[in-house]
Amino acid sequence: MGLMEREVMAIAQWRDEYCTGYEIIDIQHQTLFKIVNQIHAEILKNSQNQALIRTQLEAFHQQAIEHFDLEESLMLEQDYFNYEIHRQIHKALCAKVKSLLNKLDQGTEAFPHKVTSVLTDWMIHHIRGEDQQMIQFFRAKNIV
Ligand SMILES: [Fe+2]
Repeated sequence: MGLMEREVMAIAQWRDEYCTGYEIIDIQHQTLFKIVNQIHAEILKNSQNQALIRTQLEAFHQQAIEHFDLEESLMLEQDYFNYEIHRQIHKALCAKVKSLLNKLDQGTEAFPHKVTSVLTDWMIHHIRGEDQQMIQFFRAKNIV
């Protein structure tokens, strides 16, 4: 498969406007996009490897926790005015992913195909909104 085809298949398309200019945060965001694309690629296969999808979703969960921890400690350090709301938004996403993992483990639910578009929409909305707002605050304080 050529690079172009792979690009077409990617559900989470990275755009320059998502860059915050804070390098570690941008790299972590791109990693989250990459994992969602890996999950999506597996979902699109005729015979999906459910165990692999579960592992990939677990990787997304771990990466999200690590990434949110970083943002939250930066916000605390900088006395960010919107810290509590931003943290709650992170918590809600983690809880959502965790509950899906639990359902998959209990075998009560097949993997819902819309998960990758839900995660993609969430990431884009969050990066363009709360994260850029947070970065603007950091920039005004000269830490970015
Ligand atoms: Fe965030």
